[in-house]
Amino acid sequence: MAKVIVQFTCGECGATTGRWLGRCPGCGAFGTLVEELQGRDGQPAARTARAPERLGDVRVEEAARLTTGIPELDRVLGGGLVPASLVLVGGEPGVGKSTLLLSALGAVARSGRPALLVTGEESVAQVRLRAERLGGTDDVSILAETDLDAVCATLEREAPAVCVIDSVQTLHATEVGSAPGSVAQVRESAARLLRVAKESGVATILVGHVTKDGSVAGPRVLEHLVDCVLQFEGDRYHAHRVLRAVKNRFGSTNELGVFEMTASGLVGVPDPSTLFGRTEAGEVGAAVAVALEGTRPLLLEVQALVSRTDLAMPRRVGTGVDPKRLAMIVAVLGRHAGVALGSADVFVNVAGGVRIDEPGADLAVALAIASAARGAPLRPGIASFGELGLTGRLRPAAQAERRLEECAKLGVQLVVAPEGTNGRGAAPRVAGAGTLRQALHAALEPAAETSAAE
Ligand SMILES: Nc1ncnc2c1ncn2[C@@H]1O[C@H](COP(=O)(O)OP(=O)(O)OP(=O)(O)O)[C@@H](O)[C@H]1O
Ligand SMILES: [Mg+2]
Repeated sequence: MAKVIVQFTCGECGATTGRWLGRCPGCGAFGTLVEELQGRDGQPAARTARAPERLGDVRVEEAARLTTGIPELDRVLGGGLVPASLVLVGGEPGVGKSTLLLSALGAVARSGRPALLVTGEESVAQVRLRAERLGGTDDVSILAETDLDAVCATLEREAPAVCVIDSVQTLHATEVGSAPGSVAQVRESAARLLRVAKESGVATILVGHVTKDGSVAGPRVLEHLVDCVLQFEGDRYHAHRVLRAVKNRFGSTNELGVFEMTASGLVGVPDPSTLFGRTEAGEVGAAVAVALEGTRPLLLEVQALVSRTDLAMPRRVGTGVDPKRLAMIVAVLGRHAGVALGSADVFVNVAGGVRIDEPGADLAVALAIASAARGAPLRPGIASFGELGLTGRLRPAAQAERRLEECAKLGVQLVVAPEGTNGRGAAPRVAGAGTLRQALHAALEPAAETSAAE
């Protein structure tokens, strides 16, 4: 006989407890535990031993990746969709998840493979309106359904090459007693879809909502279940959106795709450096970083503002840079390069809403702050990269050659980089610097160095 068990599950981390608690024992969040009923079958599962296979004997059909028809999306996926994989795409409301995935489905359908969109959020007519805006999506099949059983049965019968579920939070499994979007429902939906995806060979893309802090809503177990987690970032008020892989079982996780929202949908920006990597000559507090996002070098403008403050704890605010890294750079500047910022607020911003995770951009952040502190611009046509150590020494950054190539492509005249960096061929001039102090010397206009404003 089925036995119903009551348990409490955390909406943030998925931890379960037998009784209600104000604070989750798993992640420490307050007020996140919700009651859930779990049906359990009293019968123990039949236990039959199975013979494991030798790994070397496992036969694989070479799983050719499916291109989605959107090169930027393919790049983030690691070269296209892997058949029978499960991909989770998260992003803030209105960032363009449905738009991007509908365009991708359109391209898949145009290439002659069946593509299915399961919509739980929008009606078929609403999707049709968007499709008219995007164009070329006539061959996509669409199903407005939120019942998990029906969705799984349809997937098994139709076996499309690619299926998009928009969104996983709207799916509802009848045997799970809680409301759609709850932890148990999302977990059940993802687990069932995973099984169907693997069995029927459907590359399934789940759209997921994000929480206030930007991670995909629902328990973290969802992120463990799926093969690939993509995060769609950027703010609604700017046209540029950035797609990055947070987890990828079939490729690198620091690949980045840049899109621009236009009237005809999201258009990939194949060369974002030209867009984000420009500074105005003579502008104080601006520096160009040569960051490496996955396999792609990217020139990004870093802007800094240093302003005197009376606060006992001066502020260090970074948009697009890690706050801990920013605090470290400010400390190293003060200790090892004579740029004292103890009584100044420091604000740093990275152009285009891009987030830099890579330590190779440290030097550019430091140069932007130093330029702002001293009230003097960097030399014109200059870019920089290099990781900053706590001793003020510059460490070599990975894949220097590729970074230099990108600089050459964009007409950078001088690159300030850690000592020992040298490019080949038509690379721009490299000014090697062993320490942060030497880098400042190479990058700042000579007059500015002596007129220390701080
Ligand atoms: N005609 C248009 N021209 C330019 N941009 C448009 C146009 N119509 C819609 N948009 C943009 O598309 C965005 C909505 O995209 P979409 O519906 O794909 O977002 P979403 O991430 O799926 O949102 P949700 O989480 O609400 O489902 C809006 O923010 C808007 O900026
Ligand atoms: Mg949507």
